[in-house]
Amino acid sequence: MTAEIISGKEIAKQISEELKQEVRRLKYEHQMVPGLATVLLGDDPASQVYVNSKVKMCESLGIRSSRYDLPSETNEATLLELVARLNKDFQVHGILVQLPLPEHIDESKVLMTIDPGKDVDGFHPVNVGKLMIGEPDFLPCTPHGIQQLLVRSGVEIEGADVVVVGRSNIVGKPVANILLQKKPGANATVTICHTRTRDMAAHTRRADILIVAAGKPKAINADMVKDGAVVIDVGVHRIGKTAEGKSILCGDVDFESVKEKARAITPVPGGVGPMTIVMLMTNTIKAAKMAAGLV
Ligand code: GUN
Repeated sequence: MTAEIISGKEIAKQISEELKQEVRRLKYEHQMVPGLATVLLGDDPASQVYVNSKVKMCESLGIRSSRYDLPSETNEATLLELVARLNKDFQVHGILVQLPLPEHIDESKVLMTIDPGKDVDGFHPVNVGKLMIGEPDFLPCTPHGIQQLLVRSGVEIEGADVVVVGRSNIVGKPVANILLQKKPGANATVTICHTRTRDMAAHTRRADILIVAAGKPKAINADMVKDGAVVIDVGVHRIGKTAEGKSILCGDVDFESVKEKARAITPVPGGVGPMTIVMLMTNTIKAAKMAAGLV
């Protein structure tokens, strides 16, 4: 059996069409334009690519974006002042500080300074806690994107054995939490594996849905996957360049072997990646509606 390819690119396109309509409706019915502020410190090429795509996506949907690119030497106090200013700016509904931040900056302090009502990444402890008790305002973008990929490709999540590989605060822990919720599109039995898991394969082989955010190229091979499983690959690694200078990417899953065993699999690129950005836009629109008392 060769797996169905779950195209994040296509599903993200579908969602972005829905969002475009919603932005138009807000403009005509409520005279409001959602606004996202992005903050980037330093010149890490990957972070620049991510921020560029976020800003471009805002433009294509009619969301107002304001971009703050600061030198990597910017001190913590200056960054905190900027966040405080954006917290007060009524045209800014969402604030995104691109991670990772340079070593000299306390990341957690910065994330805690963002107004929880503008925390479109869903990283503020208030939003993490709200998700934990099943009353989220903002779901973190990559985990929310993964849930949407599953739901919109018709994968049954209810009662499924979901195994998550990786326990990061950005992906592993929140995706486990989202799929555990007592809600439609969730209600799964969730296991989280990590670097100290004794027998990883024993867990991954039981998964109906395997979500891999290990941060390690091709960490999961066909022997670790159950026949007919649905496999979601969150990893992105640059493993070389083509003769034309284009990056060659791979994920955390050995796509070539696993696609022969799985029922469905996400590709890299074009799987989870495009979903993260549309979920950020979803959160920005929600933040604007919350600020206007519409939700
Ligand atoms: N760096 C990698 N992923 C993310 C994300 O989802 N949000 C932010 N702000 N930075 C990131």
